[in-house]
Order: sequence, then structure tokens, then C-alpha cells
Amino acid sequence: MNQSEIIEKTKEYVQNKLSGENSGHDWWHIYRVWKNALNIGQHENVDLFVVQLAALLHDIADWKFNDGDLDIGPKIAREWLESLEVEEEIIAHVAQIIKEASFKGAGEIKKMPTLEGEVVQDADRLDAIGAIGIARTFAYGGHKNREIYNPNIKPEEKQSVEQYKNNTSPTINHFYEKLLLLKDLMNTKTARKIAEKRHKTMEEYLNTFFQEWEGKD
Ligand code: NI
Repeated sequence: MNQSEIIEKTKEYVQNKLSGENSGHDWWHIYRVWKNALNIGQHENVDLFVVQLAALLHDIADWKFNDGDLDIGPKIAREWLESLEVEEEIIAHVAQIIKEASFKGAGEIKKMPTLEGEVVQDADRLDAIGAIGIARTFAYGGHKNREIYNPNIKPEEKQSVEQYKNNTSPTINHFYEKLLLLKDLMNTKTARKIAEKRHKTMEEYLNTFFQEWEGKD
């Protein structure tokens, strides 16, 4: 099987596996991360095959829905790629990226060991900000029965992994606890540029939100 056939098969596999997932980590999240990763990767000196496989498989067993077991994702990805007879070196690289790609609260920031990993991490973080980020954040907040906003509950910027997972604060707080911090966490120059644009979209959105909250036009 050649590389583009492997990508195609992996796309179908992930799409089947994630169908029905509607909390923001559905197939279309994967699709966007894959597109972001390709966009960034084309401007960086990376192995685009590794980048694409890791982007497609990065949420195959998301930690938020697996009681925090970080080994399930890499294991499923490995078994899948082994079934396609992908070279061991590539499988190991992809599995390592999947293991480290998840952001787990502002208290714990993982540095990716390879540029391919940095691109996938950037691509995933880009999908959490901007217009898409806003939509996903409210969708996830609704899934968790959170209030959209409560002026009496202030955001907490520094959180442990546990605090972040058990956070029940209003959705707007999530912008201050995570989303507005992501721009400065981008690894690559290419992603930083895209992030700046998306960051501005969120700032404009929040300004309007607070204005409307107080009945201003
Ligand atoms: Ni993701």
C-alpha cells in the first residue's frame, strides 16, 4: 500500500470509529486538525506522512472520555498501523505524538520531542481557538451542563490536571483558563501567525458578549 492509500484507509477508519461522537471531538474535529496540520506542515520541514497519520489518529481514544488512560490512544493507533504494515519507525513516531499531544490544563505543558509532533500539537490547538473554538467551547459546555456565563464565578488560570477535568465553571471562563493562553503556546512560526488571527476573533467576540450581557447595542 502506498502512502496516500494508507492515509485514505486511516481517514475511513477514524471516521467510522468516531461517528456519533458529538461533544466537539467528532470526525469533523479530526478533519480540521488534519487540514490545519497539512497547512502548517507545508511551511515547515517535516515528514508530512507522519504528520497526517498522527493528526488523523490523535484523538482516537481521547483521555477525557477514557478515565485519563493516556496509553489507549497510542495502543489503538499502533494496532491499526500494524494492520496496514506501516514501517515500525513511523508507527513509533506516530504513537509517541498521540501520547503527548493532549493539553491537560495550564498547569501541565508538554514539549513535543519532534517537529512533526509540534505541528500536530499546533494544529490541534488551532482548532480550539477562533470561530471554531468558540463553537466547540459552547458545545462542550452544553454537554457538561455548564452555564454560559456567571459574573459571580471568576476564572482560575492555574489549574492542575484534576481541577481542569473536574471544572464546572461557566463556559466563558474557559476562554480565560485555556483558549486565550493557546496563542503563546504555538511551537511553529506558521501556526503562531494563524493563531494570532484566530485570537483576535475571540477577543472581539468576548467584547461583544460582555456588551450584550449588559444590554448595550
Ligand atoms: Ni484533538
